[in-house]
Amino acid sequence: MSQIEFRPGLADVPVAESAVSFVDGQRARLEYRGIAVETLARESCFEETSWLLLKGELPTQRQLAEFDDQLRHHRRIKYKLKDLIRCLPETGHPMDALQAAVAAMGMFYPSRDVANPQSNWDAVIRLIAKLPTVVAAFHRIRHGDEPINPRDDLAHAANFYWMLFEQVPSPAVTRVLDACLILHAEHTMNASTFSGRVTGSTLADPFTVISAAVGTLTGPLHGGANEEVLDMLDEIGSPENAADWLKNAVETKRKIMGFGHRVYKVKDPRATVLQDFAERVFVETTPPVAYQIALDLEKAAKVMLGPKGIYPNVDFFSGIVYQALGIPRDLFTPIFAVARVAGWLSHWLEQIKHNRIFRPEQIYVGKHDVPYIPLEKRP
Ligand code: CMC
Repeated sequence: MSQIEFRPGLADVPVAESAVSFVDGQRARLEYRGIAVETLARESCFEETSWLLLKGELPTQRQLAEFDDQLRHHRRIKYKLKDLIRCLPETGHPMDALQAAVAAMGMFYPSRDVANPQSNWDAVIRLIAKLPTVVAAFHRIRHGDEPINPRDDLAHAANFYWMLFEQVPSPAVTRVLDACLILHAEHTMNASTFSGRVTGSTLADPFTVISAAVGTLTGPLHGGANEEVLDMLDEIGSPENAADWLKNAVETKRKIMGFGHRVYKVKDPRATVLQDFAERVFVETTPPVAYQIALDLEKAAKVMLGPKGIYPNVDFFSGIVYQALGIPRDLFTPIFAVARVAGWLSHWLEQIKHNRIFRPEQIYVGKHDVPYIPLEKRP
């Protein structure tokens, strides 16, 4: 056993064969089922992209219409689930509320027979359809407001916005939010997807799989980074401070949030698309100071961190876009989950098709043959 090479963080260790998405970190290329993510962000909608990820091909008009219809039909959540959300502390993080609600949701829709394709598909529809409702319900309830019922006449992204703010978003805002959902829907073998696949490999039900993935997404090295980017931009305060702040941060070995990636050694293609969308949002308004700071920070980082292959990742600009849309900071990661659920479920379906339980190896570095000393004789 001791000959096995230990790779911290499983870096470069394949853990599955997958046809869901592809990333080339040198060429800044990300494809969902072979289609470039930039094309999907421009041409597709979240519903169509979800189908593509789940089924492997773009839907026909009829398939998309039926899928969309099913999603709209399953957006509502049970009264008892709303009651459960009401019982959660309003000061708690929405990601924790989401994880708890998804785990509880599985109790309403028993789906333990993962060999049953119909029950699996029903769970897929419910999870994609209901995650936005849960996030919006917790957000409303924590501010003492009643949750807003979903509207069947609105598409996925617009309905999510409606349930958050009781306001129908403009076509421009809808487009940006939809593109953000597409850009976050999938990203090969990241930590939360791996977590979902590990849980799925035990043949646990899909609600348990997604609640595990939501929990893993929470951390600041993964989905939680988008929130911390804005805290960091606030700390920098103004564009002229960016270069000095960065110099100091690098010297004191601080992590720059929204920068760096295990796979990308160039600028994350999703960051480029998001920046483009951000600029379109800011055409009609004055660009927020956070965006000006981000631009100066990126410029300084190109010199200081670029040679090490550290460039902006998707989270660098997503928070700035969400803030411009009026979305509160602690909802950034839940929005990531609302999108990524499509990728998680695609990987789960792939995992259970050719399943073998994950049971990796460890390299034991502890002691052997330690004598047991009775309590009264211990020093
Ligand atoms: N700021 C400063 N230095 C960095 C950064 C950063 N953001 N990222 C990597 N480095 C340095 C790191 O200190 C190390 O330097 P050295 O070789 O001198 O010790 C080297 O680059 C390798 O870094 P690592 O942490 O070993 O790389 P990793 O592949 O294990 O981690 C990462 C990848 C994303 C966790 C890391 O880049 C990071 O912590 N970034 C900040 C958090 C962040 O933005 N996360 C969002 C990731 S994208 C969306 C998502 O997956 O959710």
